[in-house]
Amino acid sequence: MLKTTLLKATQAGAKVLQEYFNGTFTVSHKSTVNDLVTEADKAAEAAIIDTIRQDYPDHQILSEEIGEIRRDSTVKWIIDPIDGTVNFAHGIPICCVSIGVEQDGEMIMGAVYNPLMNELFFAQKGFGATLNDRKISVSQKTSIANAFMVTGFPYHFPEGQPNNALDTLQRFVQQGLPVRRLGSAAIDLCWVACGRFDAFWEHHLNAWDSAAGFLIVQEAGGKVTDFAGNAYSPYQPHILATNGHLHQDMLNELNRI
Ligand code: IPD
Ligand code: CA
Ligand code: CA
Repeated sequence: MLKTTLLKATQAGAKVLQEYFNGTFTVSHKSTVNDLVTEADKAAEAAIIDTIRQDYPDHQILSEEIGEIRRDSTVKWIIDPIDGTVNFAHGIPICCVSIGVEQDGEMIMGAVYNPLMNELFFAQKGFGATLNDRKISVSQKTSIANAFMVTGFPYHFPEGQPNNALDTLQRFVQQGLPVRRLGSAAIDLCWVACGRFDAFWEHHLNAWDSAAGFLIVQEAGGKVTDFAGNAYSPYQPHILATNGHLHQDMLNELNRI
């Protein structure tokens, strides 16, 4: 039942995304001029929440645009109606709906769907991860020296604070390593899960960016922690996701001053 609702809600959001993609829609900004929200984000969010509410009126919700809807329930739906909004607003088809389901503080299910590439990633705790219903697993690379990585950056770098995000990127790029920036943390995580990338790291993510993708990586055999190697929590902002083999070496790199 939970899975059916999760997939229905994901489809409902994705339908909105498809309808608006490359069309005309209003765009406004949030924390900075480049931190965008579109009419489609709000419409997709409404469609997702309506769908969940039909089956589970009493569950908690944490969703990017409307925030938190508290209820007396052990289940919380963590929603990013469009992850990759800047891509979406510019007609770049690297964006998705991302929905994670948390129960008693543990991620138990997640779906990330990019309808523009027709790629639906899904995971259920203990049951593995799939891409369009086919089982996926992380890559087998064991050395950073030939790893293919992806990262992302926050929208602002407060003055006076060390900008570790750029320092780390610079170190990898100077070693001649291929590093990508796709613009959707949820897709970054899923592409680690299916072995396209070997590692992903990003500073300052929100729960809705990573909740579903975390479980998909974990169920595909990968590892996700913070930059100190602590177990993943959606409520802490620094994420390292790898195929597992590279994890300790990546932690060392991220913590190298
Ligand atoms: C953003 C994307 C991007 C990441 C940003 C996120 P949004 O989410 O995941 O890849 O670098 O930190 O805010 O704004 O498109 O939902
Ligand atoms: Ca996001
Ligand atoms: Ca978003």
